[in-house]
Amino acid sequence: MLTSSVITVLVYCTVSGFALRNVEGTKPILQKTIEALFMDRTETIYPGTCKVFVSSMKQAKMCKKEPSLPKIIQRAKNQAIKACNDTFQFDRWNCSLYFNKPRKSIFKKIYRETAFVYALMSASMTHGISRGCASGELARCSCLGRSKNSSWETKDCGDDFKYGKRLTKNFFDMKHAGTDQIGEILKQDINIGMDSIGEQLKEVCKCHGFSGSCTTKTCWRRLGPFNSAMGLLKKHYHHAVKKKFVNFTTKRAITLKVRRKMQKERKNLVYLQKTPNLCVSTKGRVCKDRHNCATLCCGRGYSVAKKFVSTKCKCKMVDCCAVKCETCVEEIETFRCK
Ligand SMILES: *[C@@H]1O[C@H](CO)[C@@H](O)[C@H](O)[C@H]1NC(C)=O
Ligand SMILES: *[C@@H]1O[C@H](CO)[C@@H](O)[C@H](O)[C@H]1NC(C)=O
Ligand SMILES: *[C@@H]1O[C@H](CO)[C@@H](O)[C@H](O)[C@H]1NC(C)=O
Ligand SMILES: *[C@@H]1O[C@H](CO)[C@@H](O)[C@H](O)[C@H]1NC(C)=O
Repeated sequence: MLTSSVITVLVYCTVSGFALRNVEGTKPILQKTIEALFMDRTETIYPGTCKVFVSSMKQAKMCKKEPSLPKIIQRAKNQAIKACNDTFQFDRWNCSLYFNKPRKSIFKKIYRETAFVYALMSASMTHGISRGCASGELARCSCLGRSKNSSWETKDCGDDFKYGKRLTKNFFDMKHAGTDQIGEILKQDINIGMDSIGEQLKEVCKCHGFSGSCTTKTCWRRLGPFNSAMGLLKKHYHHAVKKKFVNFTTKRAITLKVRRKMQKERKNLVYLQKTPNLCVSTKGRVCKDRHNCATLCCGRGYSVAKKFVSTKCKCKMVDCCAVKCETCVEEIETFRCK
């Protein structure tokens, strides 16, 4: 607890020294929120109605209006971090908050990883809120608003993606993310994240009528599990486009020409700074297989260890109803970067 709060203070100091500020000279809520969600990997309860982090006035109001919002945000945060850990377990960047040593926060500038985290968090929030909408957890969902009947069945509502997107944008205060280059970049990354959830929407239908004759049909759109969006998000991470830095202290508002160009490239994640070489930090990392080691270990080679694991195997049905298995000992190899 003590160390984590000290780290937070340190990071905030370094971040405030950098140019990640909007035209007004303060860090927009959007940035504060995403950073707070991604950096705090504890289950700390903060004062205020949002509980998950130190919220802004507007966010506190939103949490008050929607009492289950804090729980949904907490869940979205954990879901995002867990999916990120799992997806990047064998990559040079393993979803950690820092690059190398001395520790450089991924939020110090807009790296490819920073762009990814913005997309990831907004995707997870959108997903969580849409789900909360469909399950009836969120009282003010547009989906539920259609019926005044308190015994309204919510199961046919579908996941309300549009509402999830709207509420997420509102919660991140996208409107005030800044009109400079940084604001534009972060907004684009947020939108990419949300749309990767939208792409998982599938139409499901249910038939009504005599013995399934399907005289009437109810259809709704349902979201896939969050992990099904991770493949797409990772693809975005790999295909992210580096933008040229426009000094926004001199060139505050983004020019029309730049904006048009950005709109053309709206399909990709965008970032500003090159990721530091992460090869120095992969020493001792575990790799998945030899092929993965070749990249992860950056050509330094790897050590192989043999391990015996026992598993149940050759299972057979005996005497009609009991399953009997043997124990097999299997030798597996584990790899570690030199
Ligand atoms: C993700 O990994 C970090 C460290 O690598 C760990 O502290 C954290 O608990 C993990 N989170 C989840 C949800 O697995
Ligand atoms: C609510 O819906 C239920 C079931 O469809 C119905 O029995 C009940 O009369 C409705 N109540 C109101 C107030 O409309
Ligand atoms: C941006 O321009 C200002 C004013 O000319 C200058 O002080 C600052 O160092 C520049 N920042 C960068 C990152 O180039
Ligand atoms: C993630 O990577 C960093 C730096 O390469 C390393 O220090 C850390 O132990 C890794 N975390 C996990 C959970 O592998």
